[in-house]
Amino acid sequence: MVVAARLYVRISVGGFKGINADGQVDSHQQQSLLQSAARPINPASSRTRSHRLLGGGAFTAFQTSLKLRDRVWSDSAPATADVRRGWFWTVEHILLVMRVVVTGAAGFLGSHLTDRLLSEGHQVVGADNFSTGAPENLAHLANEPRFQFLEQDVCRPFDPGHVDYVFNFASPASPPEYLRLAIETLRVGSAGVENSLEIALRYRAGYLHASTSECYGEPLEHPQTEGYWGNVNPVGPRSVYDEAKRYAEALVMAYHRSRGVSTRMVRIFNTYGPRLQPNDGRVISNFMMQALKGEPLTIYGDGSQTRSFCYVDDLIDGILLMSRSNEHLPVNLGNPDEFTVLECAQAVLDVTGSQSVLRFLALPEDDPTRRCPDITKARTLLGWEPRTTLREGLMRSLDFFKSRVSLRSAALEIH
Ligand SMILES: NC(=O)c1ccc[n+]([C@@H]2O[C@H](COP(=O)([O-])OP(=O)(O)OC[C@H]3O[C@@H](n4cnc5c(N)ncnc54)[C@H](O)[C@@H]3O)[C@@H](O)[C@H]2O)c1
Repeated sequence: MVVAARLYVRISVGGFKGINADGQVDSHQQQSLLQSAARPINPASSRTRSHRLLGGGAFTAFQTSLKLRDRVWSDSAPATADVRRGWFWTVEHILLVMRVVVTGAAGFLGSHLTDRLLSEGHQVVGADNFSTGAPENLAHLANEPRFQFLEQDVCRPFDPGHVDYVFNFASPASPPEYLRLAIETLRVGSAGVENSLEIALRYRAGYLHASTSECYGEPLEHPQTEGYWGNVNPVGPRSVYDEAKRYAEALVMAYHRSRGVSTRMVRIFNTYGPRLQPNDGRVISNFMMQALKGEPLTIYGDGSQTRSFCYVDDLIDGILLMSRSNEHLPVNLGNPDEFTVLECAQAVLDVTGSQSVLRFLALPEDDPTRRCPDITKARTLLGWEPRTTLREGLMRSLDFFKSRVSLRSAALEIH
């Protein structure tokens, strides 16, 4: 009770400072962010801070639970160990402040996850090399003492200090970006994932990996369940992403089976919301930017291919629930409401009030024709399902995309 009360007070008093996720980054904020990147990370002081946040008695309980967890870790009976380890994880997550590392923290999903973890009272070390992410996604955290930033290529081994959990989100994610960064995408899906697993191994931390629906390739089963092994072209242009992600899943399972790391992975389906890079070629960002600028909406093929779109807040709910679960095999997270690309274009036109016309272009190579998750496993295991409809999510994203259109117009006027 006392611990819960302390944590509650901490969360309600702490909150966020100057959240400005959708606005511009001013030079002062950017400077502060870069200074926070240079701030040394001191695990001892983070422990001290945990001690202060929790109060002495609670901190001792925290240490005891870690010791117990360590004993569970080396338990040779995996089934029993899993149940007990899961119980300890749940207690730690509910009652205790953790120090966690989020790789890819400057990206779309990584920055939303970072915000949510901070709002739950945790300390976050964000690691990113800004290859596809942006400093403005973290600018609102420049003065947040529980956030530390490491400008770091995760393909090189690194040590964030003691952490209780590793969330691995670093990887280019949109087709134009992973085609531009082909070798880097393969590296971050292999060396990058391995380095993040080594951190979890070293500190006996929990681990969650962001995998993708692209592991299913051009699916021959519909909708896709986790039991479907996929249909991926191993030498097509998109293979740099699809195969890197499939290799990463194998690596995560190997660290779980051979090294005892407590891993989890989610196969994420198309997700959208504020901070989705406006120019990264994903359906929603393309359509929103084109509609708001009054340009034609580009449809590849005849627009009858389907996609499912999950609003970012729903996805982060699922990721946090998954991080507290005992499931080590992949779990699909996405919105099972299936829309054709044409229906999506119409929804964007309605929400933006745009008069843009549609322009049809040839379908790119290996573009999947159907994509829809079966989320029975997430529903059963986590009690999770998305709650935001496509129109609601588009409405909530509108201000962000409007701000990006204004930024571009201002930049064009200056030039
Ligand atoms: N957004 C989606 O719809 C979606 C769908 C499926 C899977 N995912 C997965 O979720 C994760 C995050 O995706 P996102 O949409 O936020 O993409 P994003 O491009 O916005 O974010 C990825 C982040 O990783 C960083 N990064 C890339 N390579 C790195 C490296 N070598 N070292 C350090 N940082 C590096 C980038 O700079 C960026 O900030 C990815 O692993 C992606 O595969 C996303």
